[in-house]
Amino acid sequence: MLDFADKVAFVTGAGGGMGFRIACDLINHGARVMMFDIKPRPGEIPGSSEQSFYLQGDLTDEPAVAAAVKKAVELFGGIDYLANVAGALWFERDKSALEIDLDAWDQVMAINLKSMVHTARNVVPHLRKRGGGAMVHFSSTQCLRGDPAPQDAYQAAKAGVVAFSKSLAIQLAGDKIRSNVIYPGPSESPMQDRWQANPDARAATARAIPLGRVGTVADMSNACLFLLSDRASFITGTELLVDGGLLAKP
Ligand SMILES: NC(=O)c1ccc[n+]([C@@H]2O[C@H](COP(=O)([O-])OP(=O)(O)OC[C@H]3O[C@@H](n4cnc5c(N)ncnc54)[C@H](O)[C@@H]3O)[C@@H](O)[C@H]2O)c1
Repeated sequence: MLDFADKVAFVTGAGGGMGFRIACDLINHGARVMMFDIKPRPGEIPGSSEQSFYLQGDLTDEPAVAAAVKKAVELFGGIDYLANVAGALWFERDKSALEIDLDAWDQVMAINLKSMVHTARNVVPHLRKRGGGAMVHFSSTQCLRGDPAPQDAYQAAKAGVVAFSKSLAIQLAGDKIRSNVIYPGPSESPMQDRWQANPDARAATARAIPLGRVGTVADMSNACLFLLSDRASFITGTELLVDGGLLAKP
């Protein structure tokens, strides 16, 4: 059993599939959690009412992020972990870099990459005050290869997440703050709700994955809690593929 008693986490994307599951799993393992998302709370949150706080806000708005971090510290006394889970994949507007509307490019970069700058620069001073901590940032297998149906802004932003995490890992290792990345493979969540209307596409994706199924929010939460926990105390500056073997295929 992982033990997060007396620990405090700031989780973004907590109104979405993976972020909500990660927040709930952290709470069930004893943590107190600030849950942040632009969307309303998607379901019942476990634990006592003192254990969590759900705040609606926009991660691209730096003052809103700063206020949320301040609120978390007021409520919970500090912060030990940052889970940067929020992201957005715009199936219609994100396309080839050769033809994408440049405002759409900027917005996708702001949501998927700059938002993590907003959270990290506000949370890290509090991790330092605790004498250390851990961060996990969500990238995507999508940034590791080309795609004939491109979403180039998302892809570039998710590649940026990896460089950002690695750089922070080195900058902050002396402060005992770890920084790692998860690359989810295609996974069942509200982000992939297009599969509801097209189960054949979901089945084809599952067939392409060596383990024969798409990912679940539990798969991603298990990986995230491991990387946040002390079980990963010697792991920093690296990336974990959670993709059922998809990227290992020739
Ligand atoms: N589901 C997949 O197949 C898949 C695959 C690879 C990577 N990922 C990545 O994993 C992470 C979690 O994805 P998910 O599947 O849970 O998606 P999701 O759509 O269920 O959740 C993402 C959440 O981020 C929130 N968000 C987006 N923009 C925001 C903003 N500006 N301010 C605050 N919140 C904002 C959304 O409201 C949403 O609740 C994302 O970073 C995603 O890019 C997902």
